[in-house]
Amino acid sequence: MCGIVGYVGPELCADLVVDGLRRLEYRGYDSAGLAVVDAEGQLLTRRAEGKLTNLVKRLVEAPIDGRTGMGHTRWATHGAPTEDNAHPHRSGSIAVVHNGIIENHVELKAELSALGHAFQSETDTEVIAHLIDHHRTARGLALSEAVRQAVLRLHGAYSIVVIDATTPNVIVGARVASPLVLGLGQGANYLASDVAAILAHTRDMVFIEDGWMATLTPDGVDVRVVATNESPRWEKTTVTWSPAMAEKGGYKHFMLKEIHEQPRAIADTLRGRVSLERRTVDLPEIPLTREDLEQLRHFYIVGCGTAWHAGLVGRYLFEDLAGLSPHVEVASELRYRNAPMDERTLVLAISQSGETADTLAALREGKRKGARIISICNVIGASIPRECEGTLYTHAGPEIGVASTKAFTTQLAAVHLLALKFGQLLGRLDDAAMEAELTALMHVPTVIEEELSKPADYLEIARAWHEAASMLYLGRGNLYPLALEGALKLKEISYIHAEGYPAGEMKHGPIALIDERLPTVVLNPRDAHFQKVRSNLAEVKARSGPVLVVATEGDTDAADLADFTLTLPAVPEHVLPLVAAVPMQLIAYTMADFKGTDVDQPRNLAKSVTVE
Ligand code: AGP
Repeated sequence: MCGIVGYVGPELCADLVVDGLRRLEYRGYDSAGLAVVDAEGQLLTRRAEGKLTNLVKRLVEAPIDGRTGMGHTRWATHGAPTEDNAHPHRSGSIAVVHNGIIENHVELKAELSALGHAFQSETDTEVIAHLIDHHRTARGLALSEAVRQAVLRLHGAYSIVVIDATTPNVIVGARVASPLVLGLGQGANYLASDVAAILAHTRDMVFIEDGWMATLTPDGVDVRVVATNESPRWEKTTVTWSPAMAEKGGYKHFMLKEIHEQPRAIADTLRGRVSLERRTVDLPEIPLTREDLEQLRHFYIVGCGTAWHAGLVGRYLFEDLAGLSPHVEVASELRYRNAPMDERTLVLAISQSGETADTLAALREGKRKGARIISICNVIGASIPRECEGTLYTHAGPEIGVASTKAFTTQLAAVHLLALKFGQLLGRLDDAAMEAELTALMHVPTVIEEELSKPADYLEIARAWHEAASMLYLGRGNLYPLALEGALKLKEISYIHAEGYPAGEMKHGPIALIDERLPTVVLNPRDAHFQKVRSNLAEVKARSGPVLVVATEGDTDAADLADFTLTLPAVPEHVLPLVAAVPMQLIAYTMADFKGTDVDQPRNLAKSVTVE
């Protein structure tokens, strides 16, 4: 987590760096800081506890500027979220910003302390500044070589950016297992954790690989492999996202904007991959053949949080459409299990950011044991797709709100395409079945568009239930993962405890919780489980539990049993999760907004969890 931005070029860069940090604040917002080398060659820093606005205030009171600079927005790992622990960290003429964890910082700190270095913070990061300073001053190495020697000593996951007052017009970056992208400009160059931070200045990016470092001047970049000091072959990628895609566009919050972008995002994810005429799904990016699928012994889907929920929906699709029954695993669990995996295993990782440390580690575990690995990802060039044989990109565009919305529904669309592709390869789907599936899927963007334009009682629900201490979400079949997703969204942004449960499992425990103070959201459209779930709903009502039913449009019976009703358009069962996602998101959003929480940057969370 944490966001970093660096600039070297002809402009005074404080505003540019702060603007980049604004676009990275979703990665962490415990503190923020800026460092520049000014016109006199002095290293100047400003830091502030809390959100970026505090740093901006500090900069208004005490401005600094320079033509070489870097900034950081922090998600605290080592050391409390205080100003002393805020980045940049300094030693002598060196300043460093860092995203990740230095696992051997205790040992390095002891070594450097013995050499006379005095530490100011409780962070792991500060050792990097002292280590580089040591190589620079005690050993007289040039900046890039001093950084390389320091990086060779670091264990853990990190991306760093370094500036040095004695070497103006140079910035150096390095990465191992944390994202770092290099932006190529005209007479200026950039480093950042994420393309969104520098999109306003360039769309030409180089994704720095693990174990690489880069030295940037205004006119050039020098990329090296840290271990060998050789120049690797690197490629420029031109990113198609526009800077406007990362703006709020008139919505109160990014989350609301992103909910409303879902029709476009899903349509973009399907575009060019479906032929209704030929009744086929074309995914040339997934290099698996019928023979590969036929000989599979194990199939795992891995992800975290919302991405895991998308995988759970995927299980129903792979079972129904391809006759494959994947194990859908929380990545942080799978990575430490002794799960059977070999060359006849397929691992599918699902991740919006493509940088989630647990998902990456689970994927690597599969790779180590010889498994085939593929992914569904939103961020082009991120670590997960770079390690995979093939990636199905969701074309959701940048997702800034910490609570995932359009990334989730585009993951559902992508996993549906993949299940259809596998079903097609395995000869499981005749033309009629394929046509029905594809028609339903292609119709989803229009259906969600209509769903979003309908009036609904979200505000009334928020008014009635915003003080609840806890809520229960029930769903069955492919809507059980939506119950989990609804509960996760509510927890994340409204801070109301919520639990998602398979409706049929309620009687085995959670029913004991039901009384007039525990609102329950019941996903009960007219699907295959309709009657059974309606009975569960009656059981809640019989115990005086307040109920919100998510029913099919026109289901007049639902209103008799419910305190509130939200409706879903009548759609085929395999695309129900896509349309059911909308009320799950809007219940949470409205509840959080009514309570006045920080919807886009909820406490303690970060958008992309690049630490374990
Ligand atoms: C969702 O609202 C969350 N913020 C979180 O659970 C997220 O889905 C999870 O951290 C996985 O992220 P990824 O998709 O970037 O791997």
